[in-house]
Amino acid sequence: MSWNARALRRAFLEFFQEKGHRLLPSDSLVPKDPSLLFTSAGMVQFKPYFLGAAQPPAPRVTTVQKCLRTTDIDAVGDLSHLTFFEMLGNFSFGDYFKREAILWAWEFLTERLQVDPSRLQFTVFEEDDEAFDIWHREVGIEANRIWRLGEKTNFWPANAISEGPNGPCGPCSEIFYDTRIDTGCQNPACGPACDCGRWLEIWNLVFMQYERTEENGKPKLIPLPKKNIDTGMGLERTAAVLMELESPYETDVFLPILRRIETLAGVRYKGQADEKSDAAIRLIADHIRAATFSIADGVIPQNEGRGYVLRRLIRRAITRGLRILHLEKPFLADLVPAVVEALGDQYPEIVQRQSYIETTLRFEEERFRQTLQAGLTRLEEMLQSLPPNAVLPGDRAFTLYDTYGFPLELTREMAAERGI
Ligand code: SER
Repeated sequence: MSWNARALRRAFLEFFQEKGHRLLPSDSLVPKDPSLLFTSAGMVQFKPYFLGAAQPPAPRVTTVQKCLRTTDIDAVGDLSHLTFFEMLGNFSFGDYFKREAILWAWEFLTERLQVDPSRLQFTVFEEDDEAFDIWHREVGIEANRIWRLGEKTNFWPANAISEGPNGPCGPCSEIFYDTRIDTGCQNPACGPACDCGRWLEIWNLVFMQYERTEENGKPKLIPLPKKNIDTGMGLERTAAVLMELESPYETDVFLPILRRIETLAGVRYKGQADEKSDAAIRLIADHIRAATFSIADGVIPQNEGRGYVLRRLIRRAITRGLRILHLEKPFLADLVPAVVEALGDQYPEIVQRQSYIETTLRFEEERFRQTLQAGLTRLEEMLQSLPPNAVLPGDRAFTLYDTYGFPLELTREMAAERGI
């Protein structure tokens, strides 16, 4: 079988429907949960079911959820980080628990997707003997391929026991794919916990069994009335593994966007030795997906809250386009048809709101380009008045940002280019 992201999405949802799960639609990127700016995982829409505060439509469900996470925004442009991504998940609300979640994950990966079992390794929460035993005794994984790790990696949310947030939580078991890329890592215990880049987390199985609360300022884990399952598999990342590609950006949910950027900029992705240009193409491809979906779900560029996140994504994409790819004219709206080509079959909202999304982006880009022009002229004057190796005073950078809306990262970048 030759895979792509679309086929993986379909296979996952079909597999779990065969196991009795009801298919539910992706929730909006703007969650009902007021504690979050954006939907960041498949489980967000299901929190009330985990807590027993509402009745789920079915005891087991499966979804592909559009997600936005900006925690790693500064790393976007590299080969793996994304802000907007799709998360495949299977969920149990007081129905099945650890055993089925683990056995089905194994079956899906090794039988349905035909992933080479010898390339998979596993982590469990350090105290979770039950999960360890299921992997070891029932699935038959050698003990040295199951790693016991702490709450930073193997509790959801990460570090929830000591740091919160309050709410449903539990230990988790992660499945890693061994890329076998020689990263030059000298660590004799190189395994999923090693951050050398060889190990790719593809699936997180969360055993949602506690509600975290606080008593006299101390964290407390209260067992939930029923035990639940929440899993999340990164669609783009896993598709890249199956397609043996260097990065998610080369999968079918990105390719039309990459091609469109190439055409507009007159460059080829991986066509020149210039890594900066490839990184700019990746960043723009990521950010335009995030912006398109945010606008489709009702976010508008603003100076605060989620509107500011959107504005920042748009500005970063424009700045990269202008400075690295020399896209002198507004280009973001022209990428929206490519996003629709890549994702419109799964998400009709971006087809229905396409022209509104384009108009919003065009307006925002035109305004920002004027701001940029004014700021660039100011900054040029400031930099020219300074000798090399000088320091641009912080209050000047602040004025550029505060009065002219000129991004600090751009001030930094341009100053650095002159050794300032
Ligand atoms: N909530 C978990 C995660 O986002 C599993 O879906 O990783």
